Amino acid sequence: MEEELQLLTREARSALESVADGEGLESLRVSYLGRKGRITALIRSVGALPAEDRPRMGQAANRLKKELELEFEKAEGRLREAAERRKTSREAVDVTLPGLALSRGRRHPITATLEEVIDIFSGLGFALESGPEIETEYYNFDALNMPADHPARDMQDTLYLEDGRVLRTHTSPVQIRTMEKTEPPLRMICAGKAFRADTADASHSPMFHQLEGLMVDRVVSLADLKGVLTVFARRLFGEETRLRFRPSFFPFTEPSAEVDISCVVCSGTGCSLCSRRGWLEILGAGMVDPEVFRAVGYDPEEWTGFAFGMGIERIAMLKHGIDDIRLFYDNDLRFLHQF
Ligand code: PHE
Repeated sequence: MEEELQLLTREARSALESVADGEGLESLRVSYLGRKGRITALIRSVGALPAEDRPRMGQAANRLKKELELEFEKAEGRLREAAERRKTSREAVDVTLPGLALSRGRRHPITATLEEVIDIFSGLGFALESGPEIETEYYNFDALNMPADHPARDMQDTLYLEDGRVLRTHTSPVQIRTMEKTEPPLRMICAGKAFRADTADASHSPMFHQLEGLMVDRVVSLADLKGVLTVFARRLFGEETRLRFRPSFFPFTEPSAEVDISCVVCSGTGCSLCSRRGWLEILGAGMVDPEVFRAVGYDPEEWTGFAFGMGIERIAMLKHGIDDIRLFYDNDLRFLHQF
């Protein structure tokens, strides 16, 4: 029996050393110390020994049982620690790895151009106004000297709502809204969306952005208009930029002009951007028509003014050398990330 005791001890110890997980440990515990385990059986068999051997063997068997219980506890602790270590190494952060780059948003090139243009005119004392994108025919046309039967209405292909209102075809109705609520003199700009029933192509979009300007005072002349627009164009496109006024027609200005800048690529010698002309059209402008003043209750004998309107997409395209207006609306991040 003594031999058996030794053997069991050795066996149990080596089994404990190689046990790999909690489950293995538990089944070892059952097979040695469980109710039907081998140590338990050994202790029970002490009763069958001759009386003089019983106390010594009983003590030895019980000591062994205690020892093994302790060994099991230790093994359990070891396993728990090992599992703990595995977990932390799995969750560990390698501080030497390169970080994850955060992708930062940025302003859309149209927004950026609008803000730049607004900044320039703010510096010249023009206050920023706004108006609705859904307009009445009165503000979009009539008050701007475009009565219902006037052929000039055809210049702007209009999107009508069922109730007769329109998606504003330009930002000029904000001139009217501002004059209605403001006593002259005034200097205002308005930036926003405009809509026309155009089919999208490289230079047209049914929705686009405009910047409108209006100055009203007692003695405003064409020279003031030229001065303001020259300062604007030079700030935006560079100090060497030259301006050209071509006679044109708008129902709400008289006289009216189409304003060109010297080509941003060739400076006037002629290239493919300006179709060899040396000039690029950037806006429409003119002196406020007396009819417009009458519509808002300003006395045209007392007040004079100039107005201008430009397409922001066109300005942004010239500034950045973009050749297709649709790029602004495709939402292609490869394009947008360049600005
Ligand atoms: N509203 C005109 C257009 O959209 C531009 C313009 C504004 C012309 C102000 C003259 C004065 O074509």
